[in-house]
Amino acid sequence: MSSIQEKDQHWVHPVTALMDHQAKGVCAWKSADRIHLTDVNGHRVQDAFSGLWCVNAGYGQPTIVEAARKQLEVLPYATGYFGFGSEPAIELAYRLAKLAPAGLNHVIFGQGGSDAVDTAIRTVSYYFNAIGRPEKKHFIAVQRGYHGSSAMGSGLTALPVFHRYFDVPTPTQHHIEAPYTYRHSAGPDEAAVLRATVAALESKVQEIGEDKVAAFICEPIIGSGGVIVPPAGYLKAMRATCDKLGILLIVDEVITGFGRTGPMFTCEHEGVSPDLMTLAKGLTSGYAPMGATIISDKIFAAIAEAGAGGIPFGHGQTYAGHPVSAAIANATLDLYENGLLQNGTEVGEYFQTRLRSLESLSLVGQVRGQGMLAGLELITDKNARTKPDANLKLGQKILAHAFTEGLVFRAFADDILGFAPSLNYTKADVDNLIDILTFSIEKVSGASWI
Ligand SMILES: Cc1ncc(COP(=O)(O)O)c(C=O)c1O
Repeated sequence: MSSIQEKDQHWVHPVTALMDHQAKGVCAWKSADRIHLTDVNGHRVQDAFSGLWCVNAGYGQPTIVEAARKQLEVLPYATGYFGFGSEPAIELAYRLAKLAPAGLNHVIFGQGGSDAVDTAIRTVSYYFNAIGRPEKKHFIAVQRGYHGSSAMGSGLTALPVFHRYFDVPTPTQHHIEAPYTYRHSAGPDEAAVLRATVAALESKVQEIGEDKVAAFICEPIIGSGGVIVPPAGYLKAMRATCDKLGILLIVDEVITGFGRTGPMFTCEHEGVSPDLMTLAKGLTSGYAPMGATIISDKIFAAIAEAGAGGIPFGHGQTYAGHPVSAAIANATLDLYENGLLQNGTEVGEYFQTRLRSLESLSLVGQVRGQGMLAGLELITDKNARTKPDANLKLGQKILAHAFTEGLVFRAFADDILGFAPSLNYTKADVDNLIDILTFSIEKVSGASWI
């Protein structure tokens, strides 16, 4: 066993089958350039997942590296507590407020997506207590949704491994059927799925009691649950339903933010302003940890007023508004604003068209996505939409072939493949992705054991 494998036995890796990992060993990356990753053995692959859907700007962007280096030299750390701050974090809060949907003008910084969601939950609870509605404690989320793995957020997540043995969801956390048109109980019609989703939220709120429900949280496109694209009009309908029911809307843009589906935020496609919006990943393009929860003027005013008389809003972390992460985020925003979002939109359209052409393959049931975000669902019978036998691990096998050929993406546990290329992809990069993917799917579908 090489020494890196021995040393790795001490790392409890995130979201990993620990015994399998100890037996199989680690694939350790050593370096990255533009859209490629190279492992410690020198194997170089094209990254079609932007790390973990976060390196939106691609690797080795010199302006980001320079901004980080400069900030490390000038001011490597500054607290945001007790009235202190730093220029990059202040600048970033200002820029995010300008970029965010109307009414979202106040930024609570954190370290990543999980704590951004946790901050949203704590802020909503604080808000309702502060305005004299302490009975509003219940949160509703969507099946197959992912909202991180914090102690509270993991209960809003609705993927089994995040619940098993973790004592979540709590009694105040609920889920409604996902707007998963390909496999929805209301059938495949988009309008019917949208109506059913609105009805599901209404009836869940009625079941719990309108006066007891605090908020509904959703992703604009469900990411880790299998890249599920809801029917057009979903966010708008959820906004209207939340307003009608007197509950807050939290939109989790941790994956979908920062050009992943085209615009800066996916809410923009439908002109929706949530009450709270959670961000991370593309905020720094993964070059350093950072997350943010942007809250509405109304919520900010209430939580500020609740502290009249000098009582602090008792929420924060040592690294909230970290100046190096903030400098990196500002440099990343510069890239988005100076051509990267535009490129992502153009290449994203090409990517969607090319990927959709794979629906002609016998193993491919549906390709779905928007911009530089896509999912490909494997089936064994197109009409019946039959899932492959899970024991065959078809998705994993396709990924293994692709990896050998020089491509990495994500194979979800239930035979859905996930793609999140960085926004600096060229059309030629897309072509290479599609070539290797097609070859890998055909290789697996031609195998005798299928
Ligand atoms: C929608 C969504 N919310 C929250 C999170 C949690 O973010 P993090 O892994 O940075 O804690 C993720 C991570 O994938 C996510 O996709």
